[in-house]
Amino acid sequence: MKVLVTGGAGYIGSHTVLTLLAENHSVVVFDNLCNSSIEAIKRVERLSGKSVTFIQGDVCDKAQLNELFIGHDIDAVIHFAALKAVGQSTQMPLEYYQNNVYGSLCLLEVMQLHQVNNFVFSSSATVYGEEAQPPYLETIKLGTTASPYGATKVMVERIIEDFVKANNAFRAVSLRYFNPIGAHESGEIGEDPLGIPNNLLPYIAQVAVGKRDKLSIFGNDYDTEDGTCKRDYLHVMDLAQGHVAALDWLENNPNFNGAEVFNLGTGNAVSVLEIVAAFEQAYGKTLAYEFAPRRSGDLPAFWADASKANSQLNWQAKRSLLQMMTDTWRWQSNNPNGY
Ligand code: NAD
Ligand code: UD1
Repeated sequence: MKVLVTGGAGYIGSHTVLTLLAENHSVVVFDNLCNSSIEAIKRVERLSGKSVTFIQGDVCDKAQLNELFIGHDIDAVIHFAALKAVGQSTQMPLEYYQNNVYGSLCLLEVMQLHQVNNFVFSSSATVYGEEAQPPYLETIKLGTTASPYGATKVMVERIIEDFVKANNAFRAVSLRYFNPIGAHESGEIGEDPLGIPNNLLPYIAQVAVGKRDKLSIFGNDYDTEDGTCKRDYLHVMDLAQGHVAALDWLENNPNFNGAEVFNLGTGNAVSVLEIVAAFEQAYGKTLAYEFAPRRSGDLPAFWADASKANSQLNWQAKRSLLQMMTDTWRWQSNNPNGY
């Protein structure tokens, strides 16, 4: 297939583009580079030995999207482009709704105009909200999200549901990611956050490489075995393969129209202290950390029920926790300042 990947220069996007190329898809990346570097695409080309068509642009720019669809015969779209910092979204809600919700509306409108009917959307476990009981199953009703970021994911899933009801030819898959970490095993591409990392693994990696003094573990008084929060961490290359599996599923189900959702996670929950211990194994040294107060909005523990993706997409997260840590450390130690 010829696949348009919005946000394809970003963390998950770049790993997915590499995986798509390995599966002989051809790829057009559309990204405004607001949170990424063109170097990621260059490295993907080097690693794959294939070329990627890169177009710098904003998904809120319908005229530019229209040009893109006129110039390229796109079969399917994977839509990663979004702003994703939960804390920042509470400070800049309008920018988040504009970028994530309006951007998705523009893309859907232009896809409809050009009758491109295969769509894969980056959703998140955050859509289950604060009330859901883990393991999270796709049948759980969408909850109250704690942030504007989370609300944008719920809204776009809802827009997709309404859109497919009105447009019989359209076929959409929303993938609800749990906690993607790790990097491609080459150490050439990985997560490269701007400024101080918000997420656990990028922070740990920067402590290990000497850019930060120590990790603050947010809360050790939760109702979990060791008192720290538990999450379902999955390797970004497994997640990337989940996108290829979703495209394959669309291709193999030509009579499907509508919207489907799938959780992408391992089904296992791991605590912050267990992550630190696993990272130390890959790093070969101890990691400096301290316990700090809870971070507002954090839930004690959640993980995926991934059986729907296992059975229907024939997808399973395969890489171990140690592999996630080894690959994170390889990427960070080879690229201490990112791209
Ligand atoms: P990222 O920031 O690395 O990638 C997003 C990419 O989209 C960046 O390259 C950015 O420049 C681009 N972009 C943003 N707004 C754009 C716009 N208006 N027009 C064009 N390009 C734009 O983030 P990521 O971690 O790779 O996340 C990808 C997607 O997955 C996002 O939709 C995110 O919300 C979702 N997601 C991520 C996680 C996670 O833990 N990383 C978890 C659940 C869901
Ligand atoms: C966060 C977002 C979630 C988003 C996901 C991926 C919140 C409340 N949730 O999930 O919506 O989909 O990122 O982008 O922000 N931790 C520390 N010290 C740190 C950083 C994190 O102890 O410096 C802990 C956190 O308390 C949490 C765990 O590590 O228990 C994982 O944190 P993080 O990587 O930010 O992911 P989530 O909070 O699960």
